[in-house]
Amino acid sequence: MRVVIQDNYEKMCLWAANYIAKRIKEHNAGPEKDRPFVLGLPTGSSPIGVYRELARMNKAGELSFANVVTFNMDEYLGLPHEHDQSYWYFMHDNFFNHLVDMKPENINILNGMTTDPVKECADYEAKIASYGGIDLFMGGIGVDGHIAFNEPFTSLASRTGLRNLTTDTRIVNSRFFGNDPEKVPSLALSVGVGTVTDSKEVLILINGHNKARALAATVEGSMSHKWTCSALQMHNGAIIACDEAACGELTVDTYKYFLDIEKKERL
Ligand code: GLP
Repeated sequence: MRVVIQDNYEKMCLWAANYIAKRIKEHNAGPEKDRPFVLGLPTGSSPIGVYRELARMNKAGELSFANVVTFNMDEYLGLPHEHDQSYWYFMHDNFFNHLVDMKPENINILNGMTTDPVKECADYEAKIASYGGIDLFMGGIGVDGHIAFNEPFTSLASRTGLRNLTTDTRIVNSRFFGNDPEKVPSLALSVGVGTVTDSKEVLILINGHNKARALAATVEGSMSHKWTCSALQMHNGAIIACDEAACGELTVDTYKYFLDIEKKERL
């Protein structure tokens, strides 16, 4: 696992955006350029700065999304596209609407209004598989370490499916719903932990003091379904991009190790 520690949120986002851009460009210049680059994407406040920078690059002609297919991590059950807290709305408002060459047909987001969640989720997995899997899955993390909407004690082998949201997550997310946890849907559709870890690379953004316990559990804790983010320890291409504020619960030797190793030239 790589842990890339940046001074602050803005620098973390620039690092992550540059990394994603580099991967897309390498793909488009490489032997697999005839198939699309498959990018997994999250919602939440953490990725907003990354989306802003990727959109800036795109508008400036530095990065094309014409050969990119996206799959989002999750969606609230019962919220239509036009609901301003649906993840469909979030993604268009914060990202897709700002890209000049993203093809709408290449955008995949679980349908929160489905009447058949089981089929919706099975179809989503099948569609990911039809592209040969996800090249790079960017994600965020909840304060309880949830990855996508895989709350504590979700199987680390889980696939896309329906999820119950915990009271804690509904309280945390109520900041977007007029501070009323009851207005936050109690169910969501989400890719599984296994769906994320099947990706060739996983890049997780962890920023802010409130994520410090989750970062420590991801990097230093034992792998456990209590912290679903800890599944990344078994992934061969996992990168955590974090800010200083999130490092508060790391031991000093862990913190120093990653600062030191990241200064060295990558092999
Ligand atoms: C929600 C999403 C997660 C996201 C998390 C963290 O629960 N389902 O995918 O990672 O929020 O959000 P934020 O980045 O706002 O802290």
